[in-house]
Amino acid sequence: MISVAIDGPAGAGKSTLARQLARDLGYIYVDTGAMYRAVGLYALRAGADPADQAAVNALLPGIRLRLAVLDGEQHIYLNEEDVSGLIRTEQVGMAASAVGANPAVRAFLLDLQRDMARTGNILMDGRDIGTVILPDATVKIFLTASPEARARRRWLEYQAAGRPDSYEAVLADVKQRDEQDSGRAAAPLRRAADAVLLDTSAMNLAQSLAAMKQIIKERVGE
Ligand code: DC
Repeated sequence: MISVAIDGPAGAGKSTLARQLARDLGYIYVDTGAMYRAVGLYALRAGADPADQAAVNALLPGIRLRLAVLDGEQHIYLNEEDVSGLIRTEQVGMAASAVGANPAVRAFLLDLQRDMARTGNILMDGRDIGTVILPDATVKIFLTASPEARARRRWLEYQAAGRPDSYEAVLADVKQRDEQDSGRAAAPLRRAADAVLLDTSAMNLAQSLAAMKQIIKERVGE
């Protein structure tokens, strides 16, 4: 069974690229960020501060997550409610980043993520896939880009969706998320020693996709 681990900071294009790659290669795509976002959403709805570890830990027994693919798209269910659209906001992204610093949340999601890697050829994206979740992954890619390039892409997506967020606000969020995700004690974002570094600051989507396919091909031989 082949596993491809893709890690990197917020806005590097991981999920867009991983989704497309999975489609092209016929692998199952697992978006682990969606799981952290669902936990973040649950905490927000419960009126808990996502950074308050004791408060979030008390909520974990009430959370059931399930991933399913519908018409080729991954959907995430939080206690059987499809929250796939609801989790795609800055506020939930920040909450996800906060709950991601909580070791109990990481332990809660670890088995779910490892179990998914046993179901077939997979492509999993996140922050600690190559370092913690799948240390023996067939291929590891650390996907990154400058904070400005990442903020610009996210801002263009928001513009296209008719959202009013300013570029400066998006850039500030990107930088704050980087600090939170890299600076935390529990499974911080870092490149695994055996991960291939791919900086896409000067690449468009098609070029990034081609570069990733090349990296996978060299290791898997497909
Ligand atoms: O990839 P994303 O933006 O959807 O992830 C949202 C947040 O979830 C991210 O800022 C940190 C956290 N996260 C994590 O800690 N570990 C993962 N494997 C995936 C996401």
